[in-house]
Amino acid sequence: MGSGHEQVVFCSDPGSGLRAVIAVYSTALGPALGGTRFFPYASEEAAVADALALSKAMAYKNSLAGLDLGGGKAVIIGDPHTDKTEALLRAYGRFVESLGGRYLTACDVGTYNADLDVVARETRFAHGRSEAFGGCGDSSVLTAFGVFQGMRAAAQHRWGSPTLAGRTVAVAGVGKVGSWLVDRLIADGASVVVTDVDPAAVARVRARHSAVQAVADTATLVRTPHDVYAPCALGGALDDETVAVLPAEIVCGGANNQLAHEGTAELLRGRGVLYAPDYLVNAGGVIQVEDERHGFSFPRAESKATSIFDVALRVFAAADAEGVSPAVAADRLAEERMSSVGRLATIRLPR
Ligand SMILES: NC(=O)c1ccc[n+]([C@@H]2O[C@H](COP(=O)([O-])OP(=O)(O)OC[C@H]3O[C@@H](n4cnc5c(N)ncnc54)[C@H](O)[C@@H]3O)[C@@H](O)[C@H]2O)c1
Repeated sequence: MGSGHEQVVFCSDPGSGLRAVIAVYSTALGPALGGTRFFPYASEEAAVADALALSKAMAYKNSLAGLDLGGGKAVIIGDPHTDKTEALLRAYGRFVESLGGRYLTACDVGTYNADLDVVARETRFAHGRSEAFGGCGDSSVLTAFGVFQGMRAAAQHRWGSPTLAGRTVAVAGVGKVGSWLVDRLIADGASVVVTDVDPAAVARVRARHSAVQAVADTATLVRTPHDVYAPCALGGALDDETVAVLPAEIVCGGANNQLAHEGTAELLRGRGVLYAPDYLVNAGGVIQVEDERHGFSFPRAESKATSIFDVALRVFAAADAEGVSPAVAADRLAEERMSSVGRLATIRLPR
């Protein structure tokens, strides 16, 4: 396949209305883990394109996180508010099961722990279940923890000390990940300024931390003086206009796909901004989900997620040594592990 993917599966069950695409980018390091996105795609082509891009990103994320997992992703075409039924989710679960463990699914945009509980009634390969069903629950807790570790590493690299104490951090989007991150930052002694399109989300954060400052919108936030910018809303946060005005010395946030285009990382480097690659620092969630395979233990998963600090330091050092952006250095390290550790499967073992 020209895109480099191992396998792409189209799933259809007219009775329940299920139309889904499961993309497996790589199983070099293990089963391909990635969530299921439930989204009203305008066309089947758009759904396939999303599944291909997201599954590749998962392979890089899982590799750099040091997990024994390849990368995959699934998309269900439909409106999660109106099209999600027990029959549809269970039909989807049967297709996941049919892949025999080559693909492991979990939550993503439009799917929640309770949905994965339903999917899991048809397959052994559904993770991200709720705690009552032996699952890891809300993965945003360790996602935010990992972002905080990445930010501490960036502070160490840039300012020589792994703390945000005395710094101002601007958080764009205070939903699940952003609000947990604010808690960590306040506990570390940082000043925090936030924005969110949802006033209730801002109110919840300010009810917990009255010192948190709020501004009207992201355009205002990126012009407000701050040391660290943390995009925690949607993708594409770092477009050319934002990069041009950003006062931050460090960018480190939880959102996926922050760079608006391939040249953005270089633009940030040109302005002297240290960029902590998104898929590196937001891997705490997948680390939390992966732990479910071993019988979920929060302390164990949290201890694994602390490794994001060390990996981030390695990425920053490699980027400096090679004269490239941390985004390029992260990709190289992820590819190197897929290749060197993935190759071990060619050593034949006795059956
Ligand atoms: N939840 C996880 O475990 C996890 C793991 C990895 C990556 N991520 C990524 O982190 C990001 C946040 O995820 P989440 O789980 O916190 O989602 P969420 O929906 O709980 O929070 C997102 C917040 O961003 C706000 N928002 C949306 N558009 C905005 C805009 N233009 N300006 C300001 N605020 C805006 C929303 O109102 C919401 O409060 C997403 O990009 C997600 O893909 C999440």
